This record gives sequence, structure tokens and C-alpha cells, in this order.
Amino acid sequence: MESTVNRIQSSLFRQKVTSAAEAATAIHPGDTVAISGFASAGTPKVVIPALADRIHAARGAGSNFTVNLLTGASVSTETERILAEVDGIALRMPYQSEATARRKINDGRMDYVDIHLSHVAQQVWEGYYGNVDVAVVEVAGVTESGELIPSASIGNNKTWLDVADRIILEVNSWVPAAMEGMHDVYYGTALPPNRKPLEITRVQDRIGQPTYRVDPAKVVAVVETNVPDSASELTEPDDVSLAIAGHVLDFFAHEVKAGRLPADTLLPLQAGIGNVANAVLGGLDRGGYRALTCYSEVIQDSMLRLIKDGAVAHASATSLALSAKGLAELTDNIDFYREHITLRPQEISNHPEVVRRLGIIAMNGMLEADIYGNVNSTHVMGTKIMNGIGGSGDFARNGYLSMFLSPSTAKGGAISSIVPMVPHVDHTEHDTQVLVTEQGLADLRGLSPRRRSQVVIDRCAHPEFRPLLHDYVARAQATPGIGHTPHLLGEAFSFHERFLATGSMLP
Ligand code: COA
Repeated sequence: MESTVNRIQSSLFRQKVTSAAEAATAIHPGDTVAISGFASAGTPKVVIPALADRIHAARGAGSNFTVNLLTGASVSTETERILAEVDGIALRMPYQSEATARRKINDGRMDYVDIHLSHVAQQVWEGYYGNVDVAVVEVAGVTESGELIPSASIGNNKTWLDVADRIILEVNSWVPAAMEGMHDVYYGTALPPNRKPLEITRVQDRIGQPTYRVDPAKVVAVVETNVPDSASELTEPDDVSLAIAGHVLDFFAHEVKAGRLPADTLLPLQAGIGNVANAVLGGLDRGGYRALTCYSEVIQDSMLRLIKDGAVAHASATSLALSAKGLAELTDNIDFYREHITLRPQEISNHPEVVRRLGIIAMNGMLEADIYGNVNSTHVMGTKIMNGIGGSGDFARNGYLSMFLSPSTAKGGAISSIVPMVPHVDHTEHDTQVLVTEQGLADLRGLSPRRRSQVVIDRCAHPEFRPLLHDYVARAQATPGIGHTPHLLGEAFSFHERFLATGSMLP
């Protein structure tokens, strides 16, 4: 481990260095605890496991110990799991993607508030979640004047440091010191009616400062660590992901030809997390583009390659969610990547004003879409939470082009991702412009609901499900007086009901 003096240059903060176990005693039963972390990057590494030990011991001694947990988005899988396993979380906000937590939420044993990621900071300032008692925030270092150098994600850390009563810092010397300067922490946000325009007109514009401010009097403990971020493992793109990526790239070429996208640079890209998004971005270097830009939430491995190759000139995000290989690439070439990457608070990376102004091309995953373009990203069979809406709504609602991508079937072909009516709506037909599956791409712009249904079925549905969907639409449309958006209300969820009854949406 590097010496404390190198990473903690302020003697005031050095005096507060203690163990994780000691620091965790500052967290009390019933506290609202806000922690750093966005996807796999920047989660505190040692204080939360120490808290889980305390919760476990308290439970063993017969007392109840839970906390409310606020984060940027998902945090590292281990962190989410250890707290869920000891039943330590009463309320979770705003996003999770871990199996144990998901099960407890769906069993009704953990409250979960699933909100747009750009809304989190303002809702906390407005007091929707009560007082924030403790913030546990990982940083890369403390400057001589007591400012904090961010680590591999920013998320809501600026807000947590501002609002929490007590602050525990983890100073992680694993984070490359040379990451300093990659961050742009904006201190101008305010609640209405005092809001000012955000002066970001290009993805690389910087409007803040490279460090977080903190009131040293609130810092109750500083813990030193040297622990890598847990890697976001990706699989090699399969044929389905590659086919989806191919349709997206053809569509970009078509839009360039039609004069709706600039030829070399397109418009700033946003891509959700996961293998499909990674495959789409990975395919961009075959499109011959130079100097593309990206204004997104996370930077995945494929983005590093695009930056290195010159296909992407600058990428802005709130988190570096990389695989082990990606992490090594970043740390080995940190001086290069620092010039091409800006990390911002998530209230800025996902800000509707900036997303609308820059004209983002938003590409997000979905569980299913209906024949009219309403999209379900979050609830399996309409009731069971998968992950959460995350930033998909921030980008889809405000983007220049809003695209949703998915394989046409799930669970070995038993589930169609195109259904008559989605049983849960995250993105309405008004926010969805383009749907893409490996079968093809449906461009819904300018189409009435009746026209849309034909295009969605013909272009995106799996051939096994097309006759069923056409039959549904034909009978709905033939119903006298049915109206503008034909549905058979008694049958609209028949695909889902059949799956729940038989294990397949196919008859
Ligand atoms: N019904 C039931 N399960 C479905 C399904 C459906 N219609 N569609 C997909 N699934 C299951 C898959 O079988 C898979 O399950 P498994 O993990 O048990 O194998 C899982 O959902 C993930 O699906 P996959 O096809 O691998 O896609 P993905 O990893 O891209 O995830 C979402 C898709 C929708 C779950 C994911 O994109 C998400 O959580 N989106 C909401 C948040 C978001 O968009 N964030 C980005 C904003 S920046």
C-alpha cells in the first residue's frame, strides 16, 4: 500500500484514520446510509462488510438492525449481497441488479424505490427520504487543503457529502493516482426556482471542478484500502447481439444518407449497460466513423477500444464499469484516457436538459415491448422487479433518437419480447422511436398505432410468434367501434397468462 502521506495529504484527515470495524460503529440501527458506487465502480470496499458483520452480530443477540441504503445505481454485487443476506436493508433506492436483493424485494421483505437516476439527488435534497445520517464514500485521495479526489465513479457522491450528518471516507490507493483530473464535479445545481442553465454544449465541456468539497467536521472516520473494483464481466458478443448491432449500424448509415445524422460523427451516443450495448458500441469501429462522442452513464470495455482507435474522440459518463481486462487497459494507459474521458455526477450525466440539447442517440435494453411501442424494462410478467429503470428514462424521454434493443425471445424461446400489451410500462409509445431485435429494426417515427403494430410484428417479432400477434391485431382491428389503438382487453395479457400457466407463451 502507498504511504498514507501520499494519498491523504491533509494532516487533519490523517488524524482520523481508523479501521473499518471502528468506522462502522458510526452507523446505527435505523440510519439512512448513502454510499458511493455506480455499477461495479467506486463502491466502498471494507466498511460495508464491517457493517454487515455488526448487523449479523446484533441479530444473533436478538436485536433488529436495519438501515435504509441509498446509492448511485447498482453497487458491487458482493456489497449488495452481503447486506441483503443479513436482512440489513429496510429500504433500497434507486437501483439494484443483484439476485438476493431482487428476491427479498419481490418477496416484500425489502422496500425498494425504483426512480429515474437523474432524480435521485433532487429527491434527497427535497427530503423525500428523510435525513441522511451517514455517507460512506470511496475516494482516491485527499488533497492538502482537504478536498477529495474521486475514484472510478461519481454517481451521487457530491450530494451524499453535502447532505450527510456523518461521513466515513475510504481512501483506496488501488485507484490510479493519475485518474485525478478526469472528473468534473459541478456545484451549481439548485432546486427550483433557482436553477440556472447547464453550460454543456459539447460532451467534453467542463463546468465544475476535479474534486469534491467536504466539511472536515463531518468526517468521523477515514479508512485506508487497496482493493480493486470488482470487474463487470462481459461475455463475447453472441450471434444475437451481433445481429442487433448490425441492424443498428445499418440504421445509422440510413439516417446519415437521409441527412438526419452528421456523416462522420453521428450525434453523441448513450448505451445502456450489458452485452448487447457492448456489442453495438463494439461494432462502431466497423462503420468507419471518426471522432464520435458519447454522453452516457457508464463506460464499458468497448468504449476504451473505440477511444484508442480514434473512432471516439470523447466519452462522458458517471462510472467506469470495466471488466478485469478493461481495468488493466485503463490503468496502464491512464494518462491517455484521462484526456478523452470525463466523469460527472449522475444528475449531470443523465440531465434531461443536456440530453435534449446534445441530441443524444439513446440505446437501452428492454424486457419486452408491445405492438404499439410501449416498453417494459423492469418487471418480469408485470409484477417481479428485474433491476430498475436506471437511467433509461432520462435518456429515452429526452434523446434525439430513442431506441430499445432486445433479443426477440427469452428463456430458450418460451417468451416473446414482442407482446400484445406490456403488463408494466416504463417507456410509453410516445418515447419509443425505434425497436430492434435480432430479427430486424422497426422505425416507428411518423406511424399511427395501427401502422406501428404491423411494423413491430413484421420486423421485430420472432417468426414463431408472428402469426399469434397478427391474429390478435386482426381480431382487435375487426372489433366494431374499437378506436384508435385496437386491443382486446380480455386477451391483452394472454401471452403472459399462458406463460405463467404453462411455462411458455406459445400455445
Ligand atoms: N421476460 C422475462 N425475462 C426476460 C425477458 C422477458 N421478456 N427478457 C429478458 N429476460 C431475462 C433474460 O432471460 C435474462 O435472464 P437471465 O439473467 O436469467 O438469463 C435477463 O432478463 C437479462 O436479459 P438479456 O437478454 O441478457 O439482456 P440485458 O442483460 O441487456 O438486460 C434488461 C435487459 C432490460 C434487464 C436491462 O437492460 C435493464 O435492466 N434495463 C433497465 C435499466 C437500463 O436500461 N439501464 C441503462 C440505462 S443507462
